[in-house]
Amino acid sequence: MKWLGKCGDCGAWNSFVEETITTGAAHDKSIAAVKDQFRTSSPHPQVVALDADLSDGTGNKSQRIPTGSAELDRVLGGGLTPDSFVLIGGDPGIGKSTLLLQVAQGVLKTLDRVLIVSGEESVEQIQNRAKRLGVEVEGKAFLACETQLERVFEIVKQVKPQVLIMDSLQTFATQYSESAPGTVSQVREVSSRLMTLAKTAHINVWLVGHVTKDGSIAGPKIVEHLVDTVLYFEGDQGQSLRLLRTVKNRFGNTNELGVFEMTSEGLVDVPNPSALFLNERSHDAHGTAITATIEGSRPLLVELQALCVASPFATPRRTSVGLDSQKLGLLTAVLEKHAEQTLVGQDLYFNVAGGLKLTETACDLAAVVAIYSAIREIKIPPSHVFLGEVGLTGDVRKINQLEVRLDEAKKLGFTVAFVPKSQMDRAKKAKGIELVPLGRVREIPDLLERR
Ligand code: TYD
Ligand code: MG
Repeated sequence: MKWLGKCGDCGAWNSFVEETITTGAAHDKSIAAVKDQFRTSSPHPQVVALDADLSDGTGNKSQRIPTGSAELDRVLGGGLTPDSFVLIGGDPGIGKSTLLLQVAQGVLKTLDRVLIVSGEESVEQIQNRAKRLGVEVEGKAFLACETQLERVFEIVKQVKPQVLIMDSLQTFATQYSESAPGTVSQVREVSSRLMTLAKTAHINVWLVGHVTKDGSIAGPKIVEHLVDTVLYFEGDQGQSLRLLRTVKNRFGNTNELGVFEMTSEGLVDVPNPSALFLNERSHDAHGTAITATIEGSRPLLVELQALCVASPFATPRRTSVGLDSQKLGLLTAVLEKHAEQTLVGQDLYFNVAGGLKLTETACDLAAVVAIYSAIREIKIPPSHVFLGEVGLTGDVRKINQLEVRLDEAKKLGFTVAFVPKSQMDRAKKAKGIELVPLGRVREIPDLLERR
């Protein structure tokens, strides 16, 4: 034990705050109290057969409830699972409260009671937003402004909602923890009680968690292990595009992606994001190439952009948005070595249009082509799409789900696809698109300049 004055991480002085952690026994007792309050039927025996029928006459438990948004349903793995506990994280102002208000409206087509508890906004604010969004709930959705968790439980007992929306995690506090709202121990205690509520009272609980940049308040990260489903809402505040990503899902695929557009009428599904990502593309510029990436189970066509300018610096800049900068360095090196292009004295800027973040190696080839096109100032025909991984040895390697990507490209009117030579047999199954086999990066200049 010693005095800690300076933070070993960020170097700030006197920034430590003492927190009391609820000890094991007290914690267990208060969790048990929540269970006792909400238990509707006799508890299950401690050990049951794997295929035992546990339904208590309330119907099929595994049935999914549509949320009213096809994008959100897909992200959840086919609709809402009853009794599930969903965490939705994201930057402040990204649209979490808006989305959940729309969820309230959506689930009320199937269910008949939703409770929204807000610790941050007043009843008037929420009503105003609902009015602006044109939300129709026919008196079946209820609002409460409350931050004390035990009082929220009292309200839950009165209202008996099937869906409970809690906005937001950082504003709630339980009386069993003495720490301030938003601190690590409060956030943990609040979420474990809500989890107990979801499972004992058979309520579907949605919990909003702000992701804070400075990290001074405990973020949703620390409760991810506890909840059933974790969704993250991403997007550029300056742009209308919003991406909803599954990070964890006990009831479906992870890495699913939902695409929405923030409009004056709230969030609107974007059923065909490829068209959206491509619709602003310039057909008359160099330094751009199109590829197809797979997000979750869906292919997305994206435009990769590169820009080369003479550098005023001794060490030229390499700036990348949407692609890992190490990866950019690697691909540039391959291009320099194997296609004899030089970037000496040139700043290189790289961007993935639409604010998407690329993590897939299948987009390597398009990135290399975009950079090549920027260096040589040659235009890539707008009908071309590039698929392939690029190795350090300069070869173009196999990628997965090639057919799915080719189909999406075809659907959006692309007529020529550059594919790894080793995958020509598979690629040929996708009819109606001209295929150009590519074995090595050094073939790129020749193939492009011939077109
Ligand atoms: P909000 O849902 O309050 O964000 P969060 O709960 O994640 O903090 O959304 C806030 C932003 O969304 C706000 O800047 C305005 C914008 N917005 C629209 O553009 N259209 C709308 O219909 C609504 C309700 C909000
Ligand atoms: Mg909000």
